[in-house]
Amino acid sequence: MTSVGIDAVEIRTGKLRLDLPETFAPAQGDDPGKYTKGLGLTASSFPDVYEDIVTMGANAAHALMERKGLEPEDIGRIDVATESAFDNSKPVSTYIAGCLEQVYDGDFHHANKGERKFACISGTQSLDDAYNWIRAGRNRGRAALVIATDTALYARDDPGEATQGAGAVALLVTEDPDVVELSTEQGYGSADETDFLKPQQQFPSVDGKRSVQVYLSRMREAIEDFESVTEPIHPDDFAFIPFHTPFPGMVRKAAALGYRHASRDTEIEERLADEIGRQPRYEAFDSEEAFREAAADYTDDLTDTDLYREWYAETVEPTLTISREVGNWYTGSVHVARISALKAAAEDGVDLAGEKLLVGSYGSGAQAEIHAETVQSGWEDEIAALDVDEQLDARYELTFDEYEDVHDVHNHDEDAGASDTDQFTAPEQEFVFDGWGRMGERKYIYVE
Ligand code: CAA
Repeated sequence: MTSVGIDAVEIRTGKLRLDLPETFAPAQGDDPGKYTKGLGLTASSFPDVYEDIVTMGANAAHALMERKGLEPEDIGRIDVATESAFDNSKPVSTYIAGCLEQVYDGDFHHANKGERKFACISGTQSLDDAYNWIRAGRNRGRAALVIATDTALYARDDPGEATQGAGAVALLVTEDPDVVELSTEQGYGSADETDFLKPQQQFPSVDGKRSVQVYLSRMREAIEDFESVTEPIHPDDFAFIPFHTPFPGMVRKAAALGYRHASRDTEIEERLADEIGRQPRYEAFDSEEAFREAAADYTDDLTDTDLYREWYAETVEPTLTISREVGNWYTGSVHVARISALKAAAEDGVDLAGEKLLVGSYGSGAQAEIHAETVQSGWEDEIAALDVDEQLDARYELTFDEYEDVHDVHNHDEDAGASDTDQFTAPEQEFVFDGWGRMGERKYIYVE
């Protein structure tokens, strides 16, 4: 069977940085520990005045094409996943293709372009579409370009403001990939939920606490569905488990529940029985409430064991490093988590080829998806080629007043447009926003 998966990746962070414990917390009257310990975040990334979902996506795609020596005719498909689109008809992929055509001799006229929407999970759904297109043999030897790009902004003083972020991930999907091969097996957990939505509005309406519960419920359904087509999963089957990461504290909760589920009826439960007892079984309780309480107590005890802590430090913690510094990138977030883990392994000199990842994607509204990936022999060279640290270090540090201005610049309801606020950084060899065209379209140019 043809091996299909991710051949190369690139990321592009928004060029501005807001320090959460130092700058945002004091202005909001919050304890910095809420950010560093509770949410697990150090900073958010924001787009400069001349950046948006198109520039970040196009710049990530351009860097990827340059590094891989690709020309437009090598790409048969451009799918963009976003929940920050500014156009209800013309897809972001056409804007991005238009940008790229400014710097290449060829064009993308024979590439299929689209835009996927299902909150954050649409990044993984676009990856799926690319996978299916290649596996169906419709790609004529060409690769697919998947771009997940978002400006994850919330209304000022919404609790979600703590988890903002902006950035793009570009993924090249091919046969015989160099980074990871995707499993055919998948699990879904999907239900009609109203926890986080944007009904014809820029900033989301969020029921924050409920959104956390919905994430966990759908993820549980997806794992059960995945196991129905594979073997039951065991915590030690996977080198890393990248989850959708709206903030690292969310993943801390998901990992604990996942570990409890996957260690039930295994030698792990057996080994821990003397220390924390056995897992509560539903049948042994008179009410749902009593069972839930016992399960929550067991999970708390479980996460205090050395066995769990070691597993979490090795398997989950490395997926969170970039997220702590950039916040939520919505559709790109789970793909950032994968990059973060592979980068940590490369830095530690771990030989990952042949190892498995379990990838947990999620989108509000709501749907979770689980699939496995097998790391390929070329992974290390691909990851070594990334300049993630350089991009993060080069960001401009915002004061709180500047943050307020930047939020206004990107707020569609504010009059303060890009032209009224000075840019904080100087663009160089990249696509930038260049004002509006005669039909209200956004225009872009490449700056040398
Ligand atoms: N020291 C240590 N920890 C502290 C602390 C301190 N001084 N102060 C607070 N904390 C802890 C809290 O105990 C809490 O941790 P637990 O949940 O483990 O108890 C954590 O910090 C956050 O504090 P609050 O719950 O008080 O924070 P909040 O009510 O202001 O908002 C939020 C948190 C609901 C996540 C909010 O940021 C939000 O609405 N975010 C947007 C929605 C979101 O990201 N939901 C996630 C699931 S949905 C999804 O994944 C899709 C997506 O991308 C949006």
